[in-house]
Formats: sequence, structure tokens, C-alpha cells
Amino acid sequence: MSTPGRAATYRIRFVNPQEHYRRLKPEIDQALTDTLARGDLVLRQQLEDFEAQFADYVGVKYAVGLNSGYHALHFSLLATGVGAGDEVITAGHTFVATVSAIVHAGATPILADVGDDFTLDLDDVERKITERTKVLLPVHLNGRLCRMDRLMQLADEYRLTVVEDAAQALGATFAGRMAGAFGMAGCFSFYPFKALGALGDGGALTTDDPDVAQMVRRLRYNGEDRDSGEYHYHGYTALLDNVQAAVLSVKLRHLPDWVGHRRGIAERYRAGLEGVGELRLPPFDETRHRDSFQNYVIRSARRDDLRAFLAEQGIETLVHWTRPMWRHPGLRLADPHLETTERICRELISLPMSAETSEGDVETIVEAVRTFFGR
Ligand SMILES: Cc1ncc(COP(=O)(O)O)c(C=O)c1O
Repeated sequence: MSTPGRAATYRIRFVNPQEHYRRLKPEIDQALTDTLARGDLVLRQQLEDFEAQFADYVGVKYAVGLNSGYHALHFSLLATGVGAGDEVITAGHTFVATVSAIVHAGATPILADVGDDFTLDLDDVERKITERTKVLLPVHLNGRLCRMDRLMQLADEYRLTVVEDAAQALGATFAGRMAGAFGMAGCFSFYPFKALGALGDGGALTTDDPDVAQMVRRLRYNGEDRDSGEYHYHGYTALLDNVQAAVLSVKLRHLPDWVGHRRGIAERYRAGLEGVGELRLPPFDETRHRDSFQNYVIRSARRDDLRAFLAEQGIETLVHWTRPMWRHPGLRLADPHLETTERICRELISLPMSAETSEGDVETIVEAVRTFFGR
């Protein structure tokens, strides 16, 4: 992700963590004080409470708190049993952690293209299924689910396990069902700028399978079963800390309102920007999708000029990501020749979007974008 590097002078920031804290200060401070006063730091009640609330929100039986979305992905893949020689199909246009988790699980990532809504192109997925394919790993990017009816059909037909990368899709639904509630496991990130953000890194895995939940609870705690003291695996240190869990419980109560706010902001962007220049806007509601707008990503062939112009107007934007993953030689990924992913990387730009983005901000941004295209 790159920023023009003038964060201090932006009048509209991409996200505003200080304002976020200011609004929640009494509740967050109370949660921190209570947790610290009780000396509850690791694997205590606050974690269990948050896990129960989070599972309930997503609509699954179990949630396991972890220290990152990356570990939710990695542990999900370990739970599927994939290893050397097995292939996992995922989106070419995603955050690197999705692919790193596949590599660290010992399997081979197969990158499929995405469609114009940034989610998996399921025709390309089907073309790439071989007898080595074991897992389909859809990425619900920007708060929009992949078309999960067709994806689950493919999984059924070819007997594949589904792991959802829902790091950007908490609160989004497809046909009334929440992201993270379709596959064997759902993987969430509580990175501070996510819709539900921790005070630092955090994540969770959701599942209806008690064996998966138990395995992941052990993996996050060095492979140990807390009740028996037995080490079942060579595990990891990857817990969600208690203070983080306590703060996340506070924020989870606000999440439905925040998702509503994001959808309202997206609608205002759409109303203000539709038909402007050669801009392409993200899809708004369709019958089966209810997007949560983790990001509001527009596309323009003049992206770099538009971005520079907005920066001059004091408006901060982000680009995720400027080049496809396989163009980073250190990742040692073969070029899968994904036309849409390549084009998206040249064209996309994310406009400010958070619980703190105001209607006034949107008006200013829309005005600036219109001015740019009117010149
Ligand atoms: C699509 C996607 N997958 C995975 C991750 C990894 O989550 P984390 O940063 O919590 O490890 C992120 C986080 O940015 C993400 O956006």
C-alpha cells in the first residue's frame, strides 16, 4: 500500500484512529481498566466471551481468537490437512497473506483471476481444478462476498474443502448468510483499520466443526491441550490477548451500526460519482449481495493523476495493490497471466471509508473527483 506521504496535512484522512478512539473512549477505557485490574491477560473469560459473541454474530458454532488473520488462514489450511503436492486455488488479486498462508502450509497456491467486482472469476477457478486441487480459498475482497452458491457447488462437485478469506468481509452477506459461515472455516482480521479493529494485530477463525475448533485452539497455544497438558502438535504462539478481546467485545456491539454507516457512505459515493468521467464504481446492492464496504474502490485509467490531484486537495487515498503479487521476485510465484488482476492494479484507488468518514467528507471528495474529470 502506498500513500503520497503527507498524512499530517490531509484534511480528509483515509481512516482516523484518533477520532475512532475519542468516540469510544469511555467504553474502551473501562474495558481496559477492568481487564487489567483483574489481571486477566491470557486465555481468560474476556477471550471466551468475545469468541461466543463473535461466533453468534457470524452465525456459526465456534470462533477461535487468534493474533492475526494470517494465522486464521494458516491454521485453517493445516486443519484441511493439505501438504506437499496439494493445490489450493485462490484469487490473484488479494493481500499477500492469503498466499503466504498456503505456502507456509506446504501446499501450492494456484492463482485464479477475479471479475470486475474484485472477487474470484469462478469460470477461471473451474478451469484450474485438477486432481491435485484440495481446497478452494475465496477472498471476499472489499466487503463483498464471492458468488458463494456457485463456489459451494464447485466444491461439492469436485469434493473440495472451502476456506473463506473473510478478512475484509465481516458483516457482509450473500443470500442472507454471513461471510465466514459457508466453508469449513472463515478467517477474519482485526487489523486496526478493519471494520472491527483491535488495538494492534488480531484475528479469528470461525467454524461449525468442533474438531477444527479444537485443533486451532491447540495450535495457537504451542500445540497444547489446556485441560490435559498434552502436546498434540508442534504448534505456534498465536493467541488473541485478553485485553484485545475485551476491547473487541466493546466494538462488536457497534459493528452493525458501522456496517450500516459504511453502506450509507457507499451509496453517497455512488450517487455523486455515477457517470463521472470514465470512472468505474464498485457494484452496489444486487439481490443476493449485501456488501459491508470495508473499502470503497473505484477505477480510472488516470489513477495516478487523480490520486495526485486528490492529495493536492488534502484528500488521502490508498492503492491496494500497485502490482500483482507475482511481480515481487522474492515471493517466487510464477506469472499466472491474469488479465483482470493486472488491469485492476493499474486502475484502482480506494477512497476514504470508515466509521468516522462523514457525509461532509464524501461531499468534498465527490466535488474534488468531479473537478478532476471536468478539467
Ligand atoms: C484479504 C486479506 N487476507 C488476509 C489478511 C491478513 O490479516 P492480518 O493482517 O490480520 O494477518 C488481510 C489483512 O489485511 C486481508 O486484507
